[in-house]
Amino acid sequence: MRVVSIVGARPQFIKVAPVSRRLREVAEDLLVHTGQHYDRNMSDVFFDELDIPPPDLNLEVGSGSHGVQTARMLEGIEEVLLQHRPDWTIVYGDTNSTLAGALAAAKLGIRVAHVEAGLRSGNRAMPEEINRIVTDHVANLLLCPTSGAVEHLAREGIAQGVRLVGDVMVDMLRSVQPKLGAEHLPSMGVNSPYYAATLHRAENVDSPQNLGRALALMAAIPGEVIIPVHPRTRTSMDRFGLSWPNNVLPVDPLGYVPMLTLVNHAKAVFTDSGGLQKESVLLGTRCITLRQETEWPETLEGGWNYLVGLDADKMLGALSRDLTSDGVSGFGDGRAADRIVAELLGASS
Ligand code: UD1
Repeated sequence: MRVVSIVGARPQFIKVAPVSRRLREVAEDLLVHTGQHYDRNMSDVFFDELDIPPPDLNLEVGSGSHGVQTARMLEGIEEVLLQHRPDWTIVYGDTNSTLAGALAAAKLGIRVAHVEAGLRSGNRAMPEEINRIVTDHVANLLLCPTSGAVEHLAREGIAQGVRLVGDVMVDMLRSVQPKLGAEHLPSMGVNSPYYAATLHRAENVDSPQNLGRALALMAAIPGEVIIPVHPRTRTSMDRFGLSWPNNVLPVDPLGYVPMLTLVNHAKAVFTDSGGLQKESVLLGTRCITLRQETEWPETLEGGWNYLVGLDADKMLGALSRDLTSDGVSGFGDGRAADRIVAELLGASS
């Protein structure tokens, strides 16, 4: 079996790691990096840390508007697929790299497997929601992390090729969990009780009004907040002439293990990321999500995650509520990568 795996943005490096490791034992796997993320601390650091083989090809598309970025990827990916003619193209998650990989392969009649299929926020103003919908409707094998994802696909009339395999991010998280001890915090410059935050969603950082509201919310958090700053957010802060509140400590983006260590020992996590909501509650740290909706409703169980948008009062209310369960469930058993590879092999034979 010959496979081309397409990645390009930070969350995809985490998802591809367990799958490619397993895949390479049984198949020829060409790893293509679109170059959507290119800063060392947004890309290379994950390849080193997660022991992912270096990409066989980097298309170096870089940043741009959605049309420009996706078009450059389509052109580059098509060329690779024509040259290698794989049995499968595997795409991950919901970024522009996902969409471009799925579209380029589908148009060439090459089968598409989508890892993290079926997720929906219900908000079509999110670029990621468009990427998810289009990718799922051209994919041949839809590898779903949760039963809710399977139901979304059924509602859109997609039943063929749908498999519930569990969440690959659980595979990754469980494999590094022994490395997340508090003894690593001082070397990261963290010494006292703290909250952790991330902010990068286009809807929150692309306008001065919303970014201003997000900063006001952070100023209302009762304690020190450590925030690894995404380059998109840094650019917006500079462009709008905004500065971080006094209780917020901005730091450079962190690698996977340092980020999870930070999350593991935080009093709570404030985020607009999808994956981090899950990582936080799976590590037993409560999460406050700075969005109106989530693709991961399982995280809301027992009050472990609350959706507060950019409303500081709602945030304070959520922070003071009691948790009513020991944890969350529904993300699988940490063996999703094994099932994904078995499904690919089964569908190829
Ligand atoms: C992308 C994904 C988003 C994912 C996020 C994770 C899409 C539509 N969005 O958003 O779903 O949650 O990645 O990080 O694909 N930049 C740099 N260096 C980099 C990467 C980006 O400086 O290495 C800056 C550029 O100014 C760029 C901006 O960040 O214009 C946005 O980057 P882009 O990849 O377009 O989207 P993300 O916001 O990272």
